[in-house]
Amino acid sequence: MIGKKIYKFERLDSTNDYASKIAKESIEGTIVIADYQSKGKGTPGKTWFSPEGGIWLSVILKPKSASCISLMASVAVYETLKSLKLPVWIKWPNDVMVNSKKISGILTEAHGKNNAIVGIGINLNVSEFPEELKSVATSAMIEKNKTFNKQKVINILIKQLDKKYSLLKKRKGKLLEEWKKYAKIIGKQIKINTNGELIEGKVKDIDENGALMVEMTGGKVKKITTGTITLRNADFRF
Ligand code: BTN
Repeated sequence: MIGKKIYKFERLDSTNDYASKIAKESIEGTIVIADYQSKGKGTPGKTWFSPEGGIWLSVILKPKSASCISLMASVAVYETLKSLKLPVWIKWPNDVMVNSKKISGILTEAHGKNNAIVGIGINLNVSEFPEELKSVATSAMIEKNKTFNKQKVINILIKQLDKKYSLLKKRKGKLLEEWKKYAKIIGKQIKINTNGELIEGKVKDIDENGALMVEMTGGKVKKITTGTITLRNADFRF
């Protein structure tokens, strides 16, 4: 069960790093939360702005397969923020957005053979971002012009993670369907930068591992596992 054991801190360097230190001897579903992170980690190589007011937590999972763990978490975050009446959508692979700005990010790291550390950052009561993030990041507080009850939102998130993790284990197809609905990307014409290569095509589907299946001009389908969607044209508007 997710959240049966919760470790809370006022301050940590990174909840992901702390969680990986205790992963081995912890039960599955253990959560590490910090009010503030001094070295929050973003997707490889990047830092994650983690002031007080945000939700910065990591979940220790022991899945049989690490496939679709981040995707599962993005669906849980989506449901959580949707319940706050925020007009969220999922940007492949697992960023949660409001319009064209990111409100939540997920960083899953494998630890040892059986442990996956799922780090979730939600910009909840974050009133301001540094200059370099202003055009790409937003928070629930900025979008709704009010302060949210953080503990309540954490409780919703934990419930959703528990629900979606069960769904992933029991009915993965159903979880993938939900993701597809929330990501609104199937059938769209996209440009994507994957490992330095710019690919253009139409998204046909995602496969059972969450890879994007893009049909290129000429009909060839390419599976894409990493990358950044760099351009949104008229067909790719939410
Ligand atoms: C991303 O760049 O999109 C991933 C951001 C992940 C941030 C969260 S905050 C809690 C957890 N601890 C970290 O150091 N990072 C993740």
